[in-house]
Amino acid sequence: MAEPARATHGMIDYDLNSVDQIKNIEDHETLLREYAGKTQSLNEVPAIADFGCGPGLGSLRTVRPVLDVWRKAPPAQRVSACFVDLPGNDWSALRSRLFGQDGIVSKPNPPQIQLVARDFYKEIFPKNALSLSTAFYATHWLSRPQTTLSPGTLWFHELPALAYADLRQKALNDFAHFVKNRMHELATGGRLIVSTMGSVADRNTRNGVAPSRSILMPFATETAYAMVKDGLLEQSLVDNFVVAVWFLTADDARSAIHQAMSQGTACEIEHLDIKFSDGQDADPLGGLLMTPHLYARKKTKAARAVLHSTLKAHLFTPSSDTPFEAAQLAEIFYERMERAIWADACRGPNRRHLEKKTILTVVVKKTEHS
Ligand SMILES: C[S@@+](CC[C@H](N)C(=O)[O-])C[C@H]1O[C@@H](n2cnc3c(N)ncnc32)[C@H](O)[C@@H]1O
Repeated sequence: MAEPARATHGMIDYDLNSVDQIKNIEDHETLLREYAGKTQSLNEVPAIADFGCGPGLGSLRTVRPVLDVWRKAPPAQRVSACFVDLPGNDWSALRSRLFGQDGIVSKPNPPQIQLVARDFYKEIFPKNALSLSTAFYATHWLSRPQTTLSPGTLWFHELPALAYADLRQKALNDFAHFVKNRMHELATGGRLIVSTMGSVADRNTRNGVAPSRSILMPFATETAYAMVKDGLLEQSLVDNFVVAVWFLTADDARSAIHQAMSQGTACEIEHLDIKFSDGQDADPLGGLLMTPHLYARKKTKAARAVLHSTLKAHLFTPSSDTPFEAAQLAEIFYERMERAIWADACRGPNRRHLEKKTILTVVVKKTEHS
């Protein structure tokens, strides 16, 4: 039987256009080292798994500080590093990076490496096999693509109330499931570190919640609907498509973890925070705003890196008769999006859309069953 579709199968050009994600990992290096110290003696060979590793640039920065701490522990430790992503990930890029000059394999005392092409919503490793699990900028992707009547928007936070409540429940179930599977794989005392875009309560928004805001959200919606108006994309497709992501609030994360606990998962929340940034800090490409064409090009590439696989599957291909036509629609979409971002960047302080980042970070500890 064919495997069901996953939300981000076949992402492209991610490494070249992931400054946001890399910055978030760098911001958490101290936390990674701290938890490496706390987990170094749980398994005979300490093992980290990075879930949603992508093609490698971010994942290497996640795993390297942990391995550095473990290798220094006496006696000089053997260590293991596992990289998990969907089969459509760019595994060749990841392999060259791991085994390349600046990779983690060329060092003395190299780690045992496993590349695992699996869906992280399933159980992947044997019970107690891991010491530390990480997931950076990955768990906001839901387990399945979503179709729901959502006229005027491609984004979860602007859905009509009932559709919003329904998708929220799916997102909580997904996260509970993710935590449950990771806890099974960790040794007692092992930690799961998750960090990705989050949301906060905000009474001024349609559903009472404001998500981490990227300008890619409004520009993707505006571009898709402009193409509907010009007869290039089918209205019913755009009206029923929502990008399969969800940014949890701190309370959402807590209740999903409690859901996993109520289903028999022995764990506790050890750390949970939400951090905000706006202005230049929220937009690592903000330094390019003085050159609007460069800013617009880089922003559009970042959009392509994370959104292309889902837009292709749900909008471009079903609106076309041939793969060539679908590729042309994609080019038109990104060209228009780039032009719109450029025009907005040219407005300087009067830009219509600004970024405001909200990052949710959670550490969950596997405990003994009482
Ligand atoms: C935005 S990238 C993050 C890559 C890296 N962790 C970083 O921070 O740079 C998200 C990754 O999660 C992966 N992903 C999404 N859903 C997944 C799933 N269900 N199972 C495994 N990987 C998944 C995507 O394929 C993608 O490579």
